[in-house]
Amino acid sequence: MSTDRVPVHVSVLPAETLSLLDPKAGETWVDCTVGGGGHTRMFAERVGPNGRVIGLDQDPTMLEMARQRVAGLTVELVHANFDQLSEVLTARGIDSVDGVFADLGFSSDQMSEKARGLSFRDDGPLDMRLDPTTGETAADMVNTMSEAGLADVFWEFGEERRSRRVAQRIVARREEKPFATTADLANVVRSCVPRSGSIDPATRVFQALRIAVNDELGSLDRLLAMLPRVVKLGGRAGIISFHSLEDRRAKQAFRAVGLWQPVTKKPVEASDEETARNPRARSAKLRVARRIAN
Ligand SMILES: C[S@@+](CC[C@H](N)C(=O)[O-])C[C@H]1O[C@@H](n2cnc3c(N)ncnc32)[C@H](O)[C@@H]1O
Repeated sequence: MSTDRVPVHVSVLPAETLSLLDPKAGETWVDCTVGGGGHTRMFAERVGPNGRVIGLDQDPTMLEMARQRVAGLTVELVHANFDQLSEVLTARGIDSVDGVFADLGFSSDQMSEKARGLSFRDDGPLDMRLDPTTGETAADMVNTMSEAGLADVFWEFGEERRSRRVAQRIVARREEKPFATTADLANVVRSCVPRSGSIDPATRVFQALRIAVNDELGSLDRLLAMLPRVVKLGGRAGIISFHSLEDRRAKQAFRAVGLWQPVTKKPVEASDEETARNPRARSAKLRVARRIAN
């Protein structure tokens, strides 16, 4: 991914995020998922010159792209997985912060970059890592994982009803020739999953692999577990999720009696006007909670 690009990602639920999380002048906030820097910038403008925003992203290219959007504001950009949030704060001598926010998943900029291999619409290397500096690629996974292991991934993270059949077909094919590209995998999936409506049959398998490659649910569980220690009393936490596996986790975490008071009883969703402008917002769900005394 080249770094001279300007982010095209459009932040979801911007007004709702600001009004429910309510960052105030002089506060310290963490944006766990800088992406194109849209939310980070809004937080930084609110906390002002006497406040501080620490912005994390596991993708160094997104941080470079966001840098110009937050230029001149009190923002520190850090290349880290958000499951390392405690370590990032400790290294800066910070015990706790006024607010933590995460807008999960991937940005439009990452999805449209063929070399990432996130999209089945474009042919590219079968990679899918959001942090390209570390870990196994999707190709490593489909070429080495057991058939049962692959079927579990497709079922658990993609709710793909034909998970076993897809896994069987993949294992048979890789014995002839290992998988290297997204088109290669998408075609094998399409050969054994029937199309339903306008949804590409490869959609669920690609989502499942991306979640597994990036250990997305493991990272989210670790972040949610550390939030009560990291957010000060009266502080706020907000999570925007894009599928039920994530939303369920945020809902459970913010229900912990004696730790959090939910600010949103039901998740906040985008208005028709926003989804018309930004189709990505269609599946976004925002949950916010306030840290209370235990
Ligand atoms: C939906 S985008 C964020 C968009 C951003 N809020 C904006 O307004 O432009 C999600 C970003 O989070 C990053 N990300 C996803 N999981 C992460 C994790 N576990 N740790 C750190 N960054 C992560 C991705 O690399 C991506 O850049």
